[in-house]
Amino acid sequence: MSEIDSLSNQALADIDAATTPEALETLRVALLGKSGSITAQLKALGALPGDQRKAAGEAINRARDAIGSALSTRKVALEDAALDAKLASQTIDVTLPGRDGARGGVHPISRTLERIADIFGRLGYELADGPEIEDDWHNFEALNFPPHHPARAMHDTFYFGDGRLLRTHTSGVQVRYMGEHAPPLRMIAAGKVYRSDSDQTHSPMFHQVEGLLVDEHATFADLKGTLSEFVRAFFERDFEMRFRPSYFPFVEPGAEVDIAWQQADGSTRWLEVLGCGMVHPNVLKAVGIDPERYTGFAFGLGVERFAMLRYGVDDLRAFFDNDVRFLRQFA
Ligand code: FA5
Repeated sequence: MSEIDSLSNQALADIDAATTPEALETLRVALLGKSGSITAQLKALGALPGDQRKAAGEAINRARDAIGSALSTRKVALEDAALDAKLASQTIDVTLPGRDGARGGVHPISRTLERIADIFGRLGYELADGPEIEDDWHNFEALNFPPHHPARAMHDTFYFGDGRLLRTHTSGVQVRYMGEHAPPLRMIAAGKVYRSDSDQTHSPMFHQVEGLLVDEHATFADLKGTLSEFVRAFFERDFEMRFRPSYFPFVEPGAEVDIAWQQADGSTRWLEVLGCGMVHPNVLKAVGIDPERYTGFAFGLGVERFAMLRYGVDDLRAFFDNDVRFLRQFA
């Protein structure tokens, strides 16, 4: 009996001292397993004299129950402690500021296009559209460029070889719009145009905004006033600009507008930003508008050039390199 008691006391002390679930399991096997010490005691019962067997059996069973319940209590305690330790080591501080996702922004060329369309929209110009794959008639012939006209060489055209071409300017939309609308009319058309051309201020694909107004008394003074007003609204300040006589077959007279561009070294360079003029009578005739009754003015501006001036970018190709370090500045 005293052997059972001391075995039981030692077992309970060992269980209390166990610090891991594995150590506890080793103890369980050593005590209650098939060859465990308590199991051995039970097996030895048969050898005892009959008068001692009952009391000894009761004592061993008590010890076995006590050890069993001590094992499960300790097991729960160790599991709770392990869970607490895990929770403590993996704590999430919900008060920390979140990590921001990368946020995109509207491309500077799209922004510039929207800004230009917005300003002309407020001046009553309707937004029109035309295809990027054009035919010779809309891109050239109806605009007073007869076949073999030398001015065609001014546009380094991409031809498909079947009479179609990538439009070299948005002026073809003038022809389409006048074919569908009777004067008085005002329209702008924005979009991509293509030329075999590439350097710091030229790219093979670029954007133009075309403007057209046809009315009974439109004059070159109206054109100048409109463009000066537009430039002031676009840049939100007075920019030095000059109208320089120029030749386009579809206008007469024609001009180009340059804007004084402050260089990084402090010097000034004139940057050509648009072409314009009074719609040529031959163009009005080609779309069935009476040039004796109506006059009109038109302009075509380079969107990248306006974006360069507005954002202080000195190489237009930066807009198309898709370098995120450049683009991020506009986000
Ligand atoms: C034209 O394209 C005429 N259609 C403009 C026009 C419209 C004149 C209506 C009269 C009446 P031009 O080829 O000059 O003209 O181009 C117009 C503008 O587009 C230029 O002033 C310039 O700002 C821009 N531009 C021309 N070529 C390129 C290029 N390769 N890359 C970027 N911008 C260009």
